[in-house]
Amino acid sequence: MTVVPVALGARSYEVRIASGLLTRAGDELSPVIGTRPVVIVADEHVAPHLATLRQSLRAAGIVSSEIVLPAGEGTKSWAVLERLCDALLAAGVERQDHVIALGGGVIGDLVGFATAILKRGCRFVQVPTTLLAQVDSSVGGKTGINARAGKNLIGAFHQPSVVLIDPDVLDTLPERQVRAGYAEVVKYGLIDDADFFAWCEANGAALIAGDADARAYAIAHAVSAKARIVGEDEFETTGRRALLNLGHTFGHALEAEAGFSDRLLHGEAVAAGCGLAFDYSATIGLCSRDDADRVAAHWRASGLPDGLAASRITAPAARLVEHMRHDKKMAAGTLPLLLARGIGETFLDKTVALDRVELFLETEAR
Ligand code: GLY
Repeated sequence: MTVVPVALGARSYEVRIASGLLTRAGDELSPVIGTRPVVIVADEHVAPHLATLRQSLRAAGIVSSEIVLPAGEGTKSWAVLERLCDALLAAGVERQDHVIALGGGVIGDLVGFATAILKRGCRFVQVPTTLLAQVDSSVGGKTGINARAGKNLIGAFHQPSVVLIDPDVLDTLPERQVRAGYAEVVKYGLIDDADFFAWCEANGAALIAGDADARAYAIAHAVSAKARIVGEDEFETTGRRALLNLGHTFGHALEAEAGFSDRLLHGEAVAAGCGLAFDYSATIGLCSRDDADRVAAHWRASGLPDGLAASRITAPAARLVEHMRHDKKMAAGTLPLLLARGIGETFLDKTVALDRVELFLETEAR
């Protein structure tokens, strides 16, 4: 088993990664949970994993009950949050009790937020079942729901007690979801680790095809990178953690145009967004055209959109920039944008002129 510590003082915890871990979850969790009953919150797509988890908890003498929610982004809503909080209260959850989030980013974010506010805070465990959740959203304590005005606008930082990652659960994940999650893996190489990007170029295809060693290596590497960055800037105040948003501002604009629907998955938008961030960086002379082309080539080789055209979003540039203006990172009228001096050399630029970005997007759309 690989154990990655997330060092956050009193809020420190471990991310445990091992093949078959779900079948041993009860033994892993009993020292954390003690003898109290737990509630598992899952989405309707993870029924087989729910059965495995239930059985494993029972074998370890842990009493569990279950709440199954609809799959999909619509679940990260006020309405479902209210239902979930009522159900957790009805189940008798106390402040020291644990709720287990079993699912992808939607379930992890929702359960994390519900447990952040329930009785002014109770405990939770992340058991992520998508590649995207395993390498990004389950680690670091960002939790929340969507508002009418935008995605993830209501939320809290609330760290889990432990994260259990079983790469075997990816075997039943649709390939499109694996590719989308892979975008968040590659992101760590683009941010500050050119060697890892080269590893992705050499091993990405095997990872997507299901190679267990490649998956285990990439997940452990990505989680270690995330733990390091979160440990340096838990509340995203110094700009360090903001690096994890590479590709997300462009990507968010594309997702907004797609109505945050299956037309463009979050990871696909991140890939296209990273492609645009590198392309824009090359266009304004910050990074070499060779590096931007290398990033785009890897997205294409991985079956992911490499920019605006490949994302099939045909909105006018002005509308995309309008979405960017509503980004929650907007501060004092300017939008900090993650740009790159090269692969593994990403930085936060607080001086980006959005009218220049609009001209760039107009050219990209042609
Ligand atoms: N997903 C970005 C972060 O956790 O900061």
